[in-house]
Amino acid sequence: MAEVMQPMIRLEGVSKSFGSLEVLQAVDLDVAKGEFLVLLGASGCGKSTMLNLISGFEPPTKGQVVVNGRRVKDVEPACGMVFQQYALFPWKTVVENVEFGLKMRGVGRTERRERALQFVESVGLKGFQDAYPAKLSGGMKQRVSIARVLANDPSVMLFDEPFAALDAMTRQVLQEQLLSIYQKSGKTIVFITHSIDEALMLSTRMIVMGSKPGRVVQDIKNDLPLPRSADIQLSPRYVELKRSIWETVQVEVMKGLESH
Ligand SMILES: Nc1ncnc2c1ncn2[C@@H]1O[C@H](COP(=O)(O)OP(=O)(O)O)[C@@H](O)[C@H]1O
Ligand SMILES: [Mg+2]
Repeated sequence: MAEVMQPMIRLEGVSKSFGSLEVLQAVDLDVAKGEFLVLLGASGCGKSTMLNLISGFEPPTKGQVVVNGRRVKDVEPACGMVFQQYALFPWKTVVENVEFGLKMRGVGRTERRERALQFVESVGLKGFQDAYPAKLSGGMKQRVSIARVLANDPSVMLFDEPFAALDAMTRQVLQEQLLSIYQKSGKTIVFITHSIDEALMLSTRMIVMGSKPGRVVQDIKNDLPLPRSADIQLSPRYVELKRSIWETVQVEVMKGLESH
């Protein structure tokens, strides 16, 4: 008998309202272990809210969220979140920022320093371990945030528009690094972006959300082979997937404009 794989993340009939505003309506979604899911959709359609429900920062109004087989009731330790704003401790060095979570979990000084340095290296910041955040560029700060989440070894990594504030070149470098980390670690990732190109570059699956209320309007597998580099944008399959996503996004954006 085939083994039935339990999804890493499951949303079952999840609705979320803030007062009279219904942000998400009856969302059902399964994310398999090792998937790299990208969420696309117009501003305000409920993407950040969806991540906050998965991570347990917010409770659903209806339905339930299950992560790694357990119902999410409080801030979920299996999830690590990376935000657009770096949220680093300015008075701590790079390596001190990265080892903070390990310290909180009682990992001893020598071991946590050793592990933190490995993660600093894995995001390409070798040599910068003793620098303070103020001395770093935006891209470097974001790499520290990623290393800090990796050090906590969460099963699920959640990214809320992490590269939106970065210039195009830095963004490309970070995308390639994140893909390589993803391929090595096998982690389950849910990643929000406004960029269809970023979605196509990173994901193994893409979801386009509609607004008012937020729900899934397109769910499409990204079968572009891994590893990927920027030149994949020239392939016919890339163009085909991009057109399909673009059409849905356009329809949703137009609906949003009409309802204003
Ligand atoms: N804590 C909150 N209280 C009240 N309204 C909220 C709260 N969080 C989000 N919203 C509203 O929910 C809607 C969806 O927000 P959000 O999930 O941040 O959208 P997105 O990330 O897709 O831009 C928006 O209208 C926003 O104003
Ligand atoms: Mg948001």
